[in-house]
Amino acid sequence: MSDLILGIETSCDETAAAVVRDGHVVLANVVHSQVALHARWRGVVPEVASRSHTERILPIVEQALQQAGVTPADLTAVAVTHRPGMVGCLLVGLAAAKALCWRFDLPLLGVDHVQAHVHTGFLADPALPLPALALVASGGHTALYLVHAPGRTERLGTTRDDAAGEALDKGAALLGLPYPGGPSIQQAAIGGDPRAFDLPRTLLGADSLDFSFSGLKTALLYTLRPQQGGADPTPPTGTRLRDLACSYQEAVVDVLVAKLRRAAERHPVRALCIGGGVARNTRLRERLASDPALSALHLVLPELSLCADNGAMIASLGSLLLREGRAAALDLDAIATPQAGGKARLRP
Ligand code: KG4
Ligand code: ZN
Repeated sequence: MSDLILGIETSCDETAAAVVRDGHVVLANVVHSQVALHARWRGVVPEVASRSHTERILPIVEQALQQAGVTPADLTAVAVTHRPGMVGCLLVGLAAAKALCWRFDLPLLGVDHVQAHVHTGFLADPALPLPALALVASGGHTALYLVHAPGRTERLGTTRDDAAGEALDKGAALLGLPYPGGPSIQQAAIGGDPRAFDLPRTLLGADSLDFSFSGLKTALLYTLRPQQGGADPTPPTGTRLRDLACSYQEAVVDVLVAKLRRAAERHPVRALCIGGGVARNTRLRERLASDPALSALHLVLPELSLCADNGAMIASLGSLLLREGRAAALDLDAIATPQAGGKARLRP
């Protein structure tokens, strides 16, 4: 049976809406980024973010419907991120989704944002061979999942401290580069030497599929400021900046690749997909595509607009929930935390 779903995403600093047919045909995917609004604080300010969502959500939804050439009456359901995220931000998307559902008598679908990043593999490739490994690497989360079936995922490991994107954002701040740090470091690293600086790769225990990035950030700090308690260094420039950015980016990518290799050795997977803002990183994509072990898998590197926060991934996972008869009641709540770790099963 065909469906047409509006997906709404407001969990962090992107106000996004998309219209998706049958879980994978993206008819419109509109994103308004608040990056410029938060840049001077080098991070997302919750109150500023939720106010901006409130101003933008209706025009963004209208734009998505217009681009898709549909009206609310054509929709089958509305899917919305209801966890995890900043509660004030989530509430804006939820209020808009509930109002539309109430007015047009549509089912409401409550979607977990991290699971939606995992599900991007199916959005980008509906025939994704299973089982698959999924890496979600963003500003708020870094985790590895074993995907048994659409919506049936098992978390294999997660970050014990900073997320990969957070490590890039903090590293960029130390290097005097603008927020968000991932794209700035990628840009600054062009032409740099990835081995110029010896930065640590924390792999934890030999069996661990968890991540840790806080030591890397501290190592960069002490590379820039060798004497403890010394004055804040002037940010590096020229070749030194290029080499530092390149070495730092390489260290983050090395850890992500090493953990993926470990997971692929342990689990007989047929495919690998990536999602989250860090999945936009060019160096990570190159390394996955050229890695002797990982490139043998069916690799799904979704187009960049599907990696960062967007409404299409929300609509796509919403389509699955709808098919499983898992619509939510109109009192659906915003929840700050992700679905419980370990086995995150969308099926009851
Ligand atoms: O998934 P996302 O848009 O939002 C969250 O859910 O956090 O991810 C944002 C993160 C930021 O930390 C940003 O620095 C990082 O993704 N990022 C990148 C790139 N583009 C965005 N990291 C590395 N390379 C990029 N090209
Ligand atoms: Zn995200």
